[in-house]
Amino acid sequence: MIIAIDGPSGSGKSSTAKRVAKALNFVYLDTGAMYRAVSVGVLRSGIAPENSEEVAEAVRHMTVLFRKGKVLLDGRDVTTAIREDAANKAVTPVSANPAVRKLLVEKQRAYARDHDVVMEGRDIGTVVFPDADYKFFLTAEIGVRAERRMKEAPDALSLEEVRDDLQRRDEYDASREHSPLKCAADAIVIDTTNMTLQQQTDKILSLIREPKNGGK
Ligand code: DC
Repeated sequence: MIIAIDGPSGSGKSSTAKRVAKALNFVYLDTGAMYRAVSVGVLRSGIAPENSEEVAEAVRHMTVLFRKGKVLLDGRDVTTAIREDAANKAVTPVSANPAVRKLLVEKQRAYARDHDVVMEGRDIGTVVFPDADYKFFLTAEIGVRAERRMKEAPDALSLEEVRDDLQRRDEYDASREHSPLKCAADAIVIDTTNMTLQQQTDKILSLIREPKNGGK
C-alpha cells in the first residue's frame, strides 16, 4: 500500500508521516531529505547548485540511505547538515533540476515496489504515485509553519528569517516548471494550523482505517 503525504515545509508532513508509518508498521520515506542530502553532496563537491549538468552528473553517483533515524550520504552522516541554511538554499535549484528529479523519483518508486510505504514530499500524490491508495495534502498558515521550522533549525536564525525563507521556497516550489507543489485533485486536504501532531496523526489513521464506500 502507498500512502502519499504532500505539502509545504512546516505543514507537519514529516512528523505526521513518521507517526502514521509507525502505527501501521509501514516504511517511512522523507523525499525532502533525499533532495536535501544530495544538495549537501553538491555543495561539498564545490559544484554550483545552479549548474544543472554538473549537478545531475554528481547526483547520479550519490547514494542516500536512511538508517536508524539518520540520513547517510555515501555512508556519511548528514542528518544535521541537511537542515542547515546552506542546504535550505541549495535545495531549491537542485530539486528543480529535472535530471535530479528523474533519478530520485526512480529510487522512490523502487522503494514502494518492495514495501508498504508512507511517503512524504511535494509531488508524491501528483507525479511519483498518481495512483497512491491514499493521498493527503497538509497545509498550515505560514506563521505557524515558521515557528515549527524554527524549533528544528540548527542555525540561529530569527523567526522573520525563517518565515522569509519559507515564503521564498513556497513560491518557488509552487511555480517551478517541473513537478510544482500542488494538491492532487483527489487528495484529502488537512489544515494543521490549529492541530496537534497527535490530532493530525489520528485524523489520517481514522481515514485510512475507515472502510471505503462505507464498507459496501
Ligand atoms: O520538505 P522539505 O522542506 O524537507 O523539502 C526540501 C526541499 O526539497 C523543498 O524546498 C522542495 C524540495 N522537494 C521536492 O522538490 N520534491 C519532493 N518530493 C520533496 C521535496
